[in-house]
Amino acid sequence: MAGKRMATAAVVLLSLADVAINTILYMNGADLYKFTHDISSFSIFTSLLDIWILALLRGCVLFGAVLSVLYNTRDAVPRIKLSASWVGVLPAAMCAYTFVKLLLFSEKEVKFPHKPWFWGTFVGSIVGCAVFYLNWTILSRISTQPYRSINSEEGTDEERERLLESEVKSKSNLSSVKKLFSYSKPVIPYFLAATSFLIGEAVCDIFVPYYTGQVIDGIAKIQTSHEKFRHAITVMSLLTALTAVCYGMRSGLFEITKIKFNIRVRNLLFRSITRQEISFFDSVKTGEITSRLISDTTTTTNTLIDRLKVFCASLIRVVGTVIFMFKLSWRLSILIAILLPIIVVIVKVYGDYLKRVAVEIQTSFARANEVADETCANMRTVRSFANEERECERYSELLEKTYKLHIRKALLLGSFTLVEHAFDLALFVLTLYYGGHLVMTHKMTAGNLVAFYLYLNRLRASLKKLTIQVYARLMEAVGASTKVIEFIDRVPKVRNGGQLAPSKLRGSIEFKNVWMCYPSRRRAHVLKDVSFKVSPGEVVALVGPSGSGKSTCVNLLEHFYETMSGQVLLDGNPIKAYDHKFLHRRVALVGQEPVLFARSIKDNISYALDNCSLEEVQLVARQANAHQFITELPEGYETEAGEKGMQLSGGQKQRVAIARALIRRPAVLLLDEATSALDSESEQMVEQATQNLHGHTVIVVAHRLSTVEKADRIIVIDKGRVVEQGRHNELMQRDGTYAKMVRRQLLGLDTSDDTEAGDSLTDDDYCCKESGSSTADSSSSDDDDTDPHHLRRSKLELTEKNSDVQKK
Ligand SMILES: Nc1ncnc2c1ncn2[C@@H]1O[C@H](COP(=O)(O)OP(=O)(O)OP(=O)(O)O)[C@@H](O)[C@H]1O
Ligand SMILES: [Mg+2]
Repeated sequence: MAGKRMATAAVVLLSLADVAINTILYMNGADLYKFTHDISSFSIFTSLLDIWILALLRGCVLFGAVLSVLYNTRDAVPRIKLSASWVGVLPAAMCAYTFVKLLLFSEKEVKFPHKPWFWGTFVGSIVGCAVFYLNWTILSRISTQPYRSINSEEGTDEERERLLESEVKSKSNLSSVKKLFSYSKPVIPYFLAATSFLIGEAVCDIFVPYYTGQVIDGIAKIQTSHEKFRHAITVMSLLTALTAVCYGMRSGLFEITKIKFNIRVRNLLFRSITRQEISFFDSVKTGEITSRLISDTTTTTNTLIDRLKVFCASLIRVVGTVIFMFKLSWRLSILIAILLPIIVVIVKVYGDYLKRVAVEIQTSFARANEVADETCANMRTVRSFANEERECERYSELLEKTYKLHIRKALLLGSFTLVEHAFDLALFVLTLYYGGHLVMTHKMTAGNLVAFYLYLNRLRASLKKLTIQVYARLMEAVGASTKVIEFIDRVPKVRNGGQLAPSKLRGSIEFKNVWMCYPSRRRAHVLKDVSFKVSPGEVVALVGPSGSGKSTCVNLLEHFYETMSGQVLLDGNPIKAYDHKFLHRRVALVGQEPVLFARSIKDNISYALDNCSLEEVQLVARQANAHQFITELPEGYETEAGEKGMQLSGGQKQRVAIARALIRRPAVLLLDEATSALDSESEQMVEQATQNLHGHTVIVVAHRLSTVEKADRIIVIDKGRVVEQGRHNELMQRDGTYAKMVRRQLLGLDTSDDTEAGDSLTDDDYCCKESGSSTADSSSSDDDDTDPHHLRRSKLELTEKNSDVQKK
């Protein structure tokens, strides 16, 4: 452990140097008489023995720490590390004592400014305190294990992860603030203009207390200082007027900056959200997204600009005020410098805690909003299950949690205000006491004391703003901004960066050994080695039990998700190679649960298209058998569809959605249960319209036999595998899964193994178990199904004959 030896050696050397240098300074070189004199007649006002004792104390504490590190590194170093925050109080107190000593010295020793040994001892003590803290830090950084570095090859993964996590956490706050600044580029000119007025205001304002003091001194000596009095009043009036002008300008400009910044962040966030892959919306709830978009962006931008404003104003005021205070009385200023750090420490501790509570409150509110959002959006479902009461309870429980967090925040604020007020009172009493003493001993004028008092008030206010309002609230903004930034910076996992946009798309489709699982359920394979081809112009039906993977095939063709392996080809090119807009114009989808937007029916049909005439809209509406019902509505094509198309019936919605797809004149039309809510007559009309799209490929997913049997080819998918394909008659003759499904639909038969083949994925479907057992399963179930049963068979034959007659 070379590191440990080096560190302890450095600490010992530095401590020895501290003690030795402070001893030499105290003895004024090598004057041993100093010791005996100060011991025999010690005076707090003139002796420096106590300052030397402080140096010795520092040396002893560090010597003890070094010994414990050498003899018991594993226990001592963590303890030193833990105590690092509060051990800082020791050198701080020593520093404070050294400054008090300076004040005490100035009481008796009039000529002390010319005593180099005194100043040497004073500076030596201050430097010694800093060295003590440095030494403590060195000891706390000694490695207790040979592998504690993130880059090290040694150590367990868990250890390295923990180290990485802590590093990431400390960096994340800083990077959040940096990121927020990087988004603010367009508003910088406004911000700079506002800041320049703010600087003007703050600088003018700084002089006001000084001239107030001058006015008082002028009044006190009115006979001799008439001129001084008038001058001070004139300057003060001018400064006040200038301050008011600057204040007005900067307020307006900051308001503009704030709203511009807010709109920019919202735009960035919304743009990023709309770019995310579909699986992002599977896992992140709408409530969370809208909460980030509405409340978090506002908290983030408004708080950031407000705090920056306060920061600039307070910083200028603090610097200016400190200069004036030292000019008015360095003695009183030193007293303040000793006392004020205490409140800074209190504020820091409080600020950290408040930040944590603020983040918890934000998250808790977001959760409650999610519930409210989900319930309101799905009110029909909630009502149909009569579950209003439970939803209210869920909401109320979450609000209760938020309430408790707010109570914690309120208690924090209350206790902090109490401590702060007590401290304020003590500070002002001490200042007046010592200031009064200085006035009485002619070290300060009464006017200067008044001015100093006014400056002290301002310093307190500015420091309070800097620490509580800037630090703590900035942390609050950082907390709220973390999620906003996370969303803005999120790189979509499915990229729509393809460039391919050929002038002609034939519409041939090929699934080549496609394996697929949804990102939210990585362990379950939904498609397993699916391969099929669809020629241009062909009408292909995808059939299979519920949950078998039909919509998943459609999703892949829409490039909503990506395959795990294998390829989905359109005209021989991978789907992802196509330009996003081109693909979705040429491949149109009518989904299983079509969603309309809260706008007119015409706008819904021409969604995402520019310059669509009413004639075009009406034409496709006729093809989709929607024209009649639309014209019967009071406002025809201008009728509002309501949120998610709620003001239309299920079948009407489907027909509008079909018209929306047809208007694009797609090369490939994907109909996923698109006509499930229509009556047979409407369905037939829609089918004709969709399947007669000349030379265009149609993939139709349907459970209804009447829809499927007319298809050029039927592809049967079961448990994510293609189990059969062919025409209706061929498949019926083959008497496999398809025939079984048809029989069940026609006769309402049910067998136990069929139910298994349906809805849910069994353990076998999880990716680790790939055995091809599904084919075996289906064949065995077929055996069951072909079990002779006179009544059923004759019924089936009858129905098949009927359907043949119908076809003819
Ligand atoms: N977004 C999703 N995230 C995770 N799993 C999903 C998602 N969508 C579907 N699944 C799962 O994938 C499997 C196949 O679903 P898919 O929607 O393709 O079935 P389907 O054949 O269209 O069924 P249905 O006839 O009921 O519409 C199901 O087990 C389903 O639970
Ligand atoms: Mg489906």
